[in-house]
Amino acid sequence: MSGFSIDWLDLREGADRRARADKLLEQARHWLQSDAAPQSEINVVDLGAGTGSTLRAFSAASGSNHDSLSWHLVDQDAQLLAQARLRHGDSHQLQTHELDLTDIAALPLEGAKLITASALFDLVSADFIERLAVEMDRRCQQQAVGLYSALNYDGTTSWTPAHPLDEDVLKAFNRDQQRDKGFGAALGPDAGTYMERVFNSLGFSVYSVSSPWVLDSDDSKLVDALISGIADAVAQDPALNAASLQDWIQFRKLHSLGGTCSVGHTDLLALPQGD
Ligand SMILES: C[S@@+](CC[C@H](N)C(=O)[O-])C[C@H]1O[C@@H](n2cnc3c(N)ncnc32)[C@H](O)[C@@H]1O
Repeated sequence: MSGFSIDWLDLREGADRRARADKLLEQARHWLQSDAAPQSEINVVDLGAGTGSTLRAFSAASGSNHDSLSWHLVDQDAQLLAQARLRHGDSHQLQTHELDLTDIAALPLEGAKLITASALFDLVSADFIERLAVEMDRRCQQQAVGLYSALNYDGTTSWTPAHPLDEDVLKAFNRDQQRDKGFGAALGPDAGTYMERVFNSLGFSVYSVSSPWVLDSDDSKLVDALISGIADAVAQDPALNAASLQDWIQFRKLHSLGGTCSVGHTDLLALPQGD
């Protein structure tokens, strides 16, 4: 168990799908097809795959034309991987790998043309990104491999109607985002810019596009869950007064129908240069 439930991942998937930058997804699909011999197998390795939301996003974007992709889903959570197999084992070329991502040498990167991830890289450390980028750069001597990383939280959240505690709660939430999530101190909101810098420095071409969640009354279940998640994350923050926080929670839940919420993310694509 990773702490990411199937229910939570299902709840956020619609908003994630709307938020994903179509342009980068299209560019990533184009990269996968470039220089591919007809009928040849193209390997994609999805890190922190959960139940397979990135596979679904690529499949939806390509209609029925995804037969040549061979997906390797990597996650440390056996239940999420079992769910991915249940949903896609019959329809896709799929292998699951129950692994801890921090062991980069153990990742099934042999022959990969694209590494993908969604809602993952804000959990990881600077060291993890550097080690992964160096490993990709090394592998590019044999076979060019790119990275598509969607939905990296960027530290911005805005609400309507406004509440006086919004800014303090956001600051506390962003502090919690930098807590160690198993990779060392997490980059949290800095993940997107850090990845951009590291991959640029290794000579990759990096494309970055904003991909915010834009939520309204139709997303009230997700907004409710988001409010609860934020409240849990900031509950112990000494800068927040407990009674004021309760007031904020009540106010936010009262307006999850009728109000709006926007949560900033960036999607990033890093491709070996010259490709
Ligand atoms: C926010 S979820 C995103 C899941 C999926 N990509 C999606 O967008 O629905 C993060 C995923 O990363 C996985 N994860 C977190 N830390 C991990 C680690 N050290 N090794 C392997 N998987 C990890 C979790 O189990 C979870 O499935």
